[in-house]
Amino acid sequence: MTLESSRMAFQRVLFVLSVLLVVLSAFSSCRATTTSQSEFLTLMKKSLSGYSLIIWDVNKGFSYCNYTGIGCDDQGNIVQIDISGWSLSGNFPEQVCSYLPKLRVLRLGHNNFHGGFPRGITNCTLMEELNMTRVYFTGKLPDLSPLKSLRVLDLSYNHFTGEFPLSVTNLTDLEVLNFNENGGLDLWYLPENISRLTKLESMILTTCMLQGEIPGSVGNMTSLIDLELSGNYLSGRIPKGLGRLKNLRQLELYYNKLEGEIPEELGNLTALVDLDMSVNKLKGEIPHSIFLLPNLQFLQFYNNSLSGEIPVTITNSTTLHTISLYDNFLTGEVPQSLGTSSAIIGLDLSENQLSGNLPEGLCSGGKLMYLLVLQNMFSGELPESFSKCESLIRFRVSNNNLEGKIPDGILALPHASIIDVGYNQLTGSIPSIIQNAKNLSELFMQGNRISGVIPSEISLAINLVKIDLSNNLLSGPIPSEIGNLRRLNLLLLQGNKINCSIPVSFSSLKSLNVLDLSSNLLTGSIPESLSELLPNSLNFSNNLLSGPIPLSFAKGGLLESFSGNPGLCTPVDLDSSNPNFTHCSQVYNRKKINCIWVIGISVGIVIVGIVLFLKRWFSKERRMMDLNDTSLCSVYSYDVKNFHPMYFDQREIIESLEDKNIVGYGGSGSVYKIELNNGVVAVKKLMSRKSKDSSLEDQLTMDKELKTEVETLGSIRHKNIVKLYCYFSSLDCSLLVYEYMPNGNLWDAIHKGKIVLDWPIRHQIALGIGRGLAYLHHDLMRPIIHRDIKSTNILLDIDYQAKVADFGIAKVLQARGSKDSTTTVVAGTYGYLAPEYAYSSKATTKCDVYSFGVVLMELITGKKPVEAEFGENKNIIYWVLTKVETKEGTMEILDKRVSGSFKDEMIKVLRIAIRCTCQIPTLRPTMNEVVQLLHEADPCRFDCCKSPNKSKETPNKVVD
Ligand SMILES: *[C@@H]1O[C@H](CO)[C@@H](O)[C@H](O)[C@H]1NC(C)=O
Ligand SMILES: *[C@@H]1O[C@H](CO)[C@@H](O)[C@H](O)[C@H]1NC(C)=O
Ligand SMILES: *[C@@H]1O[C@H](CO)[C@@H](O)[C@H](O)[C@H]1NC(C)=O
Ligand SMILES: *[C@@H]1O[C@H](CO)[C@@H](O)[C@H](O)[C@H]1NC(C)=O
Repeated sequence: MTLESSRMAFQRVLFVLSVLLVVLSAFSSCRATTTSQSEFLTLMKKSLSGYSLIIWDVNKGFSYCNYTGIGCDDQGNIVQIDISGWSLSGNFPEQVCSYLPKLRVLRLGHNNFHGGFPRGITNCTLMEELNMTRVYFTGKLPDLSPLKSLRVLDLSYNHFTGEFPLSVTNLTDLEVLNFNENGGLDLWYLPENISRLTKLESMILTTCMLQGEIPGSVGNMTSLIDLELSGNYLSGRIPKGLGRLKNLRQLELYYNKLEGEIPEELGNLTALVDLDMSVNKLKGEIPHSIFLLPNLQFLQFYNNSLSGEIPVTITNSTTLHTISLYDNFLTGEVPQSLGTSSAIIGLDLSENQLSGNLPEGLCSGGKLMYLLVLQNMFSGELPESFSKCESLIRFRVSNNNLEGKIPDGILALPHASIIDVGYNQLTGSIPSIIQNAKNLSELFMQGNRISGVIPSEISLAINLVKIDLSNNLLSGPIPSEIGNLRRLNLLLLQGNKINCSIPVSFSSLKSLNVLDLSSNLLTGSIPESLSELLPNSLNFSNNLLSGPIPLSFAKGGLLESFSGNPGLCTPVDLDSSNPNFTHCSQVYNRKKINCIWVIGISVGIVIVGIVLFLKRWFSKERRMMDLNDTSLCSVYSYDVKNFHPMYFDQREIIESLEDKNIVGYGGSGSVYKIELNNGVVAVKKLMSRKSKDSSLEDQLTMDKELKTEVETLGSIRHKNIVKLYCYFSSLDCSLLVYEYMPNGNLWDAIHKGKIVLDWPIRHQIALGIGRGLAYLHHDLMRPIIHRDIKSTNILLDIDYQAKVADFGIAKVLQARGSKDSTTTVVAGTYGYLAPEYAYSSKATTKCDVYSFGVVLMELITGKKPVEAEFGENKNIIYWVLTKVETKEGTMEILDKRVSGSFKDEMIKVLRIAIRCTCQIPTLRPTMNEVVQLLHEADPCRFDCCKSPNKSKETPNKVVD
């Protein structure tokens, strides 16, 4: 063998070796990525908890590309993770990009992650889509410049703090930028160079602390389709340059401090569909050009200082269907042909100085649902055409100068929920076809010249909640059928000429809260059965009533409500004497004085003189009261419902909806604590954001659902259910006003509280929740299922009495959610969710029992429903069940912070909790049974524990 050949052989060996090495190393690096990829999934399973991750079985080799939520490229690299809407909680692993360097799409939305933005994500230089909407991240945002390929960035609905990441201006491939609802950021200015983002189609910077002027350069971002800057502190004028955004379909600038005039140039936005500049300081006239936009459907300029007339061009539009211009200084007449060229759905012109007739053809398109023109100077008659407008849901024309007879059909509109014609000069009577108004819940006709009798058919409009017919010329009796209106909450008939006696059927109006029959010609005695009612406000004064005042009213300090009735006397058994009333003689003849009795009439005539005199005497004072009454939550363009009388002004509330008053965020909206002149309330704001793919009709139906739901809640009175005072809604948002609970929610009290609650208080809380739920499940005609019982939904009053909050709302929000996104939002919260509900999403009362069992376990153990120490994917129930197998284990789980003397009672309750959380729904007890069981486990049953911090009401009575 020559030297040559041996060298060649050696080289060949070397070559083979090196090839082998390359192959080997390639193989091992390939193995490395696969293992590291699956390691990452294991890591995710470790750091996050939630049922949904169970479906990832990481021990079964390489098949992760087939997992739900994971997407790979041809080489088996994970390029996409989509776990949005999986309701996971925990920390999302920082190092995602070290494990998955090829990641391009990361969708984490709608989860409950702790901590801050996972900074490692900025290492994913290939990332194109990053969606972190509603993951509840906190803390500061990093420099995002390294994410050079990013096209979609959605960080909406989080709690980020610190500076806005201006580094986004470096991401020149961005098409979607969404920072909606990040109210924790520092105030920031939109920089001129934002216009570097020339590919941006959707810029949503709503409610994210933007201040200063809108830079003129935005006019160069001609790819924009959707520009939303509402809910900020923007000031200055609207740049004329915005008129160059030829592709713009949606322009939302509402809730800012913008001033000056609306630029004429916006008339060049020929693609525009939706324009909203409400709640700013805009002045001047509305440019004619805007109504000539060929695609405009929504136009909202309410709450500005716009003046001048509504341009006639408004009648040229064939697309415009929702117009809201309320609370401006608009004058002149509304073009009479409005509604004939486009089918109007909603028109709100309230609180302006508009005059002339209401346009006859507003409902020509047959779609009109909202017609609101309150507080203007409209005159003439109500067009007959409205009585055929069957689509109407809200018809509100109060506080104008309308006259003539109300067309009968208006009061019989089948879908109308509010008919409000108060404070005009309208005449006519209430027709018996009002029985067709099956959806009517509020009827306001006060302050007109309505005459005739109240027809008994009104009782067939069974959904009536409020009736105000005060200060008209009504006569005759109150129909006794009125007792059929079971939902009636407010009945105002004062200042009419109603005679005869008070129908006994009133006592079946169990929801009645405010009743005013004063200043009429009522005769006879006050039915004893009325004392079964517990209205918060009652007025029978200035009538011709006689006989004894029912004892419970007299004792309840309500005597004033009966003044001006010379025939009334106080019952003998009442000790305190009142100078205005005589004591009744022992054997008062209770026989009712019938109204046709001639004697009655003649006595009446004499007394009327006295009444009239008294009336004049008190008229000034009463007028003041009337004014107060109307300011009570009755502002115009809002749809308002009052459930408990509460003397606050709605404006006062709306004006206090500032970020500094936010005390919490819930799944359904932000919660504000608002201190009013006469008390503190909690206000929950539910945003009903317009989404492009849901039609206005859908939204209106949804609003209606919410309203019906809210009405039910409002009619509930139970000491363990939080009081809903009233509800307002406008096109943008709905507000729920609740009583304020100074001790916050149970979650904070158990898991964060500085004060340790001892067992008697915890037991009292458990019993309270139990009673509240038992009431919802068993004591109502239609049981209410809460659907989202959890410790954050249990509020504590000053005495640590539990109040159940937020029921039913979850359901409505779920209905809303399913309309506008592909994610299914199951109402309910992970950790509390009954297994059958998680799979079938069919809610039953037994689902509430299950969730209640989880809350009991929290109370007993002081642990959260899901904690790392329970093990991967294990919850408190699993943990409790494994522990209670031994006696020591059982002792171990009892919250150590509770004094040891209550161990036996705690174990009794633990048994109840275990029964409540049975996997099989039928094995769980009913809430009534639970209350009974809890009662038996009362640590204070034998009065052995009069501890100083015990704030229990001595005998625990009330409903069971
Ligand atoms: C993944 O799914 C594809 C198509 O559904 C199938 O062909 C493949 O065998 C699956 N791979 C594994 C490892 O399960
Ligand atoms: C982000 O994800 C949510 C679902 O979690 C989706 O509704 C939303 O449209 C996504 N955002 C963008 C900009 O695609
Ligand atoms: C991001 O990349 C840098 C540089 O490659 C590295 O030092 C850092 O550890 C990475 N961060 C994470 C969280 O992976
Ligand atoms: C944009 O990127 C450049 C270069 O990486 C950097 O110097 C600059 O600070 C970035 N701009 C912002 C606003 O972060």
